[in-house]
Amino acid sequence: MANPILAGFKIMTKKSFQVYPLIDKKKNGHKLSVDEIKWFIQGYTDHVIPDYQMSAMLMAMFLKGMDGAETAALTDAMLESGEQLKFPGKNVIDKHSTGGVGDKASFILAPIASAAGVKVPMIAGRGLGHTGGTVDKIEAVKGFRTNLSLKEFQDKLNENGLVLIGQTPEIAPADRLIYALRDVTATIDCIPLITASIMSKKLAEGANGIVFDIKYGSGAFMRTPKQARILAKSLIQTSKRFKKKAVALITDMNQPLGNAVGHSHEIIESIETLKGKGPKDLTDLSVILAAHMIHIAGVEKTFVKAKKKAELMVSSGKALEEFRKLIKGQGGDDRVIDDYSLLPLATSITEVRSPKKGFIKMFNNEQIGLLLIELGGGRKMKTDIINFDVGFLFEKKIGDQVKKDDVIFTIHHRADQTDAALSIRDRFLKESLTLSATKVRAPKLIIEKLS
Ligand code: URA
Repeated sequence: MANPILAGFKIMTKKSFQVYPLIDKKKNGHKLSVDEIKWFIQGYTDHVIPDYQMSAMLMAMFLKGMDGAETAALTDAMLESGEQLKFPGKNVIDKHSTGGVGDKASFILAPIASAAGVKVPMIAGRGLGHTGGTVDKIEAVKGFRTNLSLKEFQDKLNENGLVLIGQTPEIAPADRLIYALRDVTATIDCIPLITASIMSKKLAEGANGIVFDIKYGSGAFMRTPKQARILAKSLIQTSKRFKKKAVALITDMNQPLGNAVGHSHEIIESIETLKGKGPKDLTDLSVILAAHMIHIAGVEKTFVKAKKKAELMVSSGKALEEFRKLIKGQGGDDRVIDDYSLLPLATSITEVRSPKKGFIKMFNNEQIGLLLIELGGGRKMKTDIINFDVGFLFEKKIGDQVKKDDVIFTIHHRADQTDAALSIRDRFLKESLTLSATKVRAPKLIIEKLS
């Protein structure tokens, strides 16, 4: 069926196709060519191909899959839809986490890597579903600007070696349009589409290498190590096709990372970790991810040396100073580093105590993220304003032994949220906590490395 609107539409690919036969081709499980994919994506981004035809194509891609070459072509088409930054030197490295509950590692690993001589251009995301977002969290620091222009972004990276902003309209606009459509057409959880979405944005940032933290478990979008491994392989393969260095770690997200969940509380825990006083899981993961960044940047020849350097950046206080510089450089109140009372902090506390003795076997980590949203610590609607001051502070984690009435975590809330906090406590104890009478082993934090 000819589509007269598209006759002669051949700007990006020099070739012209028709919409219906391409959807039909994918629907029947055939491979699309690079030109066909690029033509389709450009047509959609230019508003020539309508949402209903793009939706049909996305569903065909979802159901029939895409091989490595198709995924790379999709990535490239989305990348070419916007601006692409370039920085001199080989030491420009970013990290991408697939998101989770209490994941604040970016605030620790980026200053560590930067202090070690890596340039870190971070374009991070906001909260999604039950997971918090790096951009939302840093905005708990008064004055911090996450909406720098691309020119400011480049200048800050050249000046400070570290910059952190939110998504901008100039970077991969095709992804923005397609992501919004995927969100309402049940096509989010599709490895090739996720890969192209993540990679188009990372490649546009101008990084030479990327370290991926692919989370699995009850608080992650990938529920099993198997799913996480498939995504990790797809991201690594696509990075290599674009001649970027890449390492992926598969990490546990069956419980919050660190002890704090909630925006101000996570900033405080990040600063404490940069001061060398953070929880072990958060410290270990941040140091190891930073060490991979230092290693693939070529700053150190071996991973072992890179890890030593990362540890030194924390113990010497240099990484903390990088974080201070980042906050100050983007207009934030850097006095928070020494005075946490400058962060918004709710003053009422409700304790969540163990109903009996035993060992903590399991949390429903997704539900922990959703319970925080009940206090306003995340968005239910796009337009919601986040309460930075609320949060949960865990005192026990999986594998810990508890006595009856031991505090598992504390809920930090506003005085007028006591009823909500009591309901959160009761729902957590009923639906989110599993205790075992016998000893439980703490989950391994990093289960695999791929490169
Ligand atoms: N994050 C992204 O940027 N894109 C996806 O498709 C999923 C997670």
